[in-house]
Amino acid sequence: MTSIKDKILQRFLAAAGEPISGQQLADELLVSRTAIWKHMQALQQDGYTFEVIKKKGYKLIAKSNRLDEMQIAAHLKTACYGQKIYHFDEVESTQIVAHELIRNGAADGTVVIAEKQTAGRGRMQRPWDSAEGQGVWMTTIIRPNILPHQAPQFTLVAAVALTHAISEVCQNFKPAIKWPNDILIDGKKCVGILTEMVAEADRIQALLIGTGINVNQQPEDFSQEVRGVATSLAIEEGRKIDRALFVAKYLGHLEQLSDIYVKEGFAPIKTLWEAASNTIGKHVRATTLREIIEGQAIGITEAGVLEIRTANGEIKSVYSADIEIQ
Ligand code: BTN
Repeated sequence: MTSIKDKILQRFLAAAGEPISGQQLADELLVSRTAIWKHMQALQQDGYTFEVIKKKGYKLIAKSNRLDEMQIAAHLKTACYGQKIYHFDEVESTQIVAHELIRNGAADGTVVIAEKQTAGRGRMQRPWDSAEGQGVWMTTIIRPNILPHQAPQFTLVAAVALTHAISEVCQNFKPAIKWPNDILIDGKKCVGILTEMVAEADRIQALLIGTGINVNQQPEDFSQEVRGVATSLAIEEGRKIDRALFVAKYLGHLEQLSDIYVKEGFAPIKTLWEAASNTIGKHVRATTLREIIEGQAIGITEAGVLEIRTANGEIKSVYSADIEIQ
């Protein structure tokens, strides 16, 4: 249920800078003027700035930098994804919160977002740098009617959705997917995806699509270790990006592509993924847990597996690896 504070915020976001009087809000929301005043104070503490206009009421003059539900909802055009958003100031990892929500029956399309993660996790048990307020650290819970072995394909669905959302919000560069699911801009990593699954032997209960998107960091915001290899949308676009708008666009593309995947299978996704990828056709070096494979990346299979043709003509399948493009 939407809280009174969220309803007030919703009204101000929809009013697009027009003033609204305290009395009007009190009448609409069936609460006292004092209650409205208290909620206005709370919104100001969250970082929203209002101007008091004599005889007219409050006017929203600056939005908070927080990625709260109402800011995303103001741009959202989905039927299901993002209709329920849990927003936190700080969590260990949005994946951990999402697992808990799944155990409690969270609906398809539920989203968990945090301003900061204290133990953000990446693929292969690596830590994920999740500084406060600048990135988008989110997990989308989806409950598609697919078999467990199809789950990796959904990571590729998410990667395509993210490149489409980035291209819609940013005009000055073209993002590229590096197999399996890193999104790079000019060779530097901007997005990582971590897909986890809750399943029985023959049925998926839920997928957790964790996305770490570097949005508004500047180079000095990255730790020394990743500074040379990481970038953000703001650095590449040359301006601050509206994170709420970006999340809404991503969820829109994710919902649309998930529908296509469930109705038409992997073939259309594979075509879109290959078009957005910088890996296919390139000479690559894949470091797997067991070996290093070098050769030309020739494509991905229906299972999202990367195929590499080595110098002696052998075709090797790579299920999980770190890839260097040479
Ligand atoms: C990678 O290694 O490239 C994947 C990084 C995934 C990070 C995101 S941030 C939101 C979600 N919560 C986590 O702890 N990890 C994922």
